Amino acid sequence: MLYSEKVMDHFQNPRNVGKMEDADGVGEVGNAKCGDIMKMYIKVKDDIITDVKFNTFGCGSAIATSSMATEMIKGKSIDEALELSNKAVVEALDGLPANKIHCSVLAEEAVKAAIEDYRSRQQ
Ligand code: FES
Repeated sequence: MLYSEKVMDHFQNPRNVGKMEDADGVGEVGNAKCGDIMKMYIKVKDDIITDVKFNTFGCGSAIATSSMATEMIKGKSIDEALELSNKAVVEALDGLPANKIHCSVLAEEAVKAAIEDYRSRQQ
């Protein structure tokens, strides 16, 4: 099969989808290769990401990787979340087809953009 069970699961039942009205940081990134867009919202308390939401105008792999990425950073500190790589997300999903790896980059970049926004608001 082209996609792992975990990818299919997160694609069909994505976790943490939606908007966050009172987010502490919002990141929006676009994928230059396909034009897809990802928006990530984070809620932070005492340097810990207490809640995450995402919205995407993207493909199934982008949905699955973002869903997994939100699960991986929830409850983590800002510094830990910054270390999340698209590779780690892909591994957690038991892999993606090679031509879909670029979709996972969107998730990593959206997390970083949301944290950057959060940090800029703290100053
Ligand atoms: Fe655009 Fe997957 S094809 S993010």
